[in-house]
Amino acid sequence: MDLHAHLLPGIDDGAPDEAAAVALAEHAAATGVRTMVATPHLRHDYPDLDPAELPGRVAALQAALQARGVPLEVLVGGEVDAVWAQHQTDETLRAVSYGGRGTDLLVETPYGELPMVLEELLFRIRTRGFRILLAHPERNPTFQRDPERLGRIVDSGVLVQLTGASVTAGRRSRACALAHALIAEGRAHVIASDAHNVGGRAGLAEAVAASDHPRARWMVTDAPAAILAGEALPPAPAAPAPTRRRWSLRRG
Ligand SMILES: [Fe+2]
Repeated sequence: MDLHAHLLPGIDDGAPDEAAAVALAEHAAATGVRTMVATPHLRHDYPDLDPAELPGRVAALQAALQARGVPLEVLVGGEVDAVWAQHQTDETLRAVSYGGRGTDLLVETPYGELPMVLEELLFRIRTRGFRILLAHPERNPTFQRDPERLGRIVDSGVLVQLTGASVTAGRRSRACALAHALIAEGRAHVIASDAHNVGGRAGLAEAVAASDHPRARWMVTDAPAAILAGEALPPAPAAPAPTRRRWSLRRG
């Protein structure tokens, strides 16, 4: 299951047209993905997207995939900017939540230095009844420098989505180091592609293969299934037998 992909054509910086969207879906299906959530950017620099249109757009793409025999289920979702969300009605937030269920929202980690108000913005969204899946925090330099800040957010009940390309990036990548530390600490819950086009980023199978932790497979199967169902996450697989800790959130 892939909970983060810019699959809908002609909306944001993802698939530019239907042919590109079908190609991206075919590629995902060929690598074993059976369900993909279309999560277009919902933020002030994409003002033309009406969330009420999302079900129709997803249905049209699903029909195109079925016509071509592509075995991929597409669901409604969105990658919500934390400030944008503050100005939306409950109805709009529900429309861009996973499956339109009104339970779980994918919230984008802001780029660059994180404002101190971020935690307050996330808290306000949660008090409106949504569970948050925070998109790719491992890529943010503030969290890379201060992983304890991210740890406190996770410990407050926010779920974390890692991008597959971060998990596969290699030890010289700070995003990779933080991603593996979060997996090892049990503070990451989903691995998703954040795909914008075919071949642009590592797929889920590559990411699972790049982790030696059994939690990684849970992060592309059982955990995302629970989020799509709006249910509590099932228990994660136990860590491997303790050896020297390879990844840690703690510095020094
Ligand atoms: Fe994204």
